[in-house]
Amino acid sequence: MQIDRHTFDDPLVTRSTTRTQSSGSFEGPRSILRRGDDEEERVSKGESDAEGLYFPISPFMIYPEAYGEFAVFVRKGKNLILFTRQGEQFTKNHKAILHQNGIQELYIQSSQKPDYDRYLEEHLGMVLADEAVPLAVRSKVLYHHATSVLGEIFESSRHDLSAGSMEKLKNIVRSSWHFFSNSDALRSMAPILSHGYGVHTHSVNVFIYCAAILDSWKMSIEERLKTELGAILHDIGKATLPRVILNKHGRLNSEERDLMKMHPVRGVGMCSMLHIGQTVMHSVLFHHEKLDGSGYPAGLRDSAIPLCARIIAVVDAFDTFTSERYFYADPLSAHQALTFLQEEMSGWYDKGVITQFGKKLREAEID
Ligand SMILES: [Fe+2]
Repeated sequence: MQIDRHTFDDPLVTRSTTRTQSSGSFEGPRSILRRGDDEEERVSKGESDAEGLYFPISPFMIYPEAYGEFAVFVRKGKNLILFTRQGEQFTKNHKAILHQNGIQELYIQSSQKPDYDRYLEEHLGMVLADEAVPLAVRSKVLYHHATSVLGEIFESSRHDLSAGSMEKLKNIVRSSWHFFSNSDALRSMAPILSHGYGVHTHSVNVFIYCAAILDSWKMSIEERLKTELGAILHDIGKATLPRVILNKHGRLNSEERDLMKMHPVRGVGMCSMLHIGQTVMHSVLFHHEKLDGSGYPAGLRDSAIPLCARIIAVVDAFDTFTSERYFYADPLSAHQALTFLQEEMSGWYDKGVITQFGKKLREAEID
């Protein structure tokens, strides 16, 4: 394998936070849902022309007793029919109607995505812990929500990270606690992990791998949550770098590489006003340290590198090797990447972490 291990961290970044968009036609909706006329509402053609774009959600996201501050539509042929109005409370009857009619997708207007995102934030923990919701659905909800939140943070945070952004990230980490205790969680996540260039999708991948490792690691719950928060935040300093560098296709020159190497220190600077604790700070600052002292920014060695940073360093490198952003070599398979970490980079990374990660990957049948 021809790999230049001194430049593998050079990223390429594109914004890939997308949801499938669906446009609806609203001519002649007829209820297939056997609802009363008073509950059925036709969306005017003018409105459909004005908006035009919708995104799909799973019917599992309709939680009885919850209020949807957004209108929900169902598809009938080429038409989208209003199912619940904005501000309407969902009921068990709504769930039953969807189930009885075999509805697989619901639609929300793209203009109401912020309202849906707030709803999702509020109910994320409930969704992820709900054993009645298929694991594949929960995996998609978690991945799409986390990449969406992180994508917005990377786009909007050039200097300080806001307290609101930090709360959103904490909510994702806390809400996924129960989800990762399912031994099939990583297996379910694997098919939907992005292997593209996005720094935000990379950060979510690192968080997911980290959470999978820590599920069976002897560590306090408090420390585990802080390490996972550190994982999702580890590259936040890249938000301060010029987009021309982040988006560059090809090798960085030495000047660009020097700038890139500033991202751990800049990341800590972005979080300095938020009192996020030592573990998170260490994760951001030291995730490019190497056991042999050749890393940056401090050149720490061996156990002087905090455990959180040693764990993140392994999964960070793994995700880089298996992604397309590793632009001067084809992406490695999971097995190849793990072998490379073990055999050719053994002086850099914590063997115990690699062993535990390999075990999790095999259990999840990721090879
Ligand atoms: Fe990094």
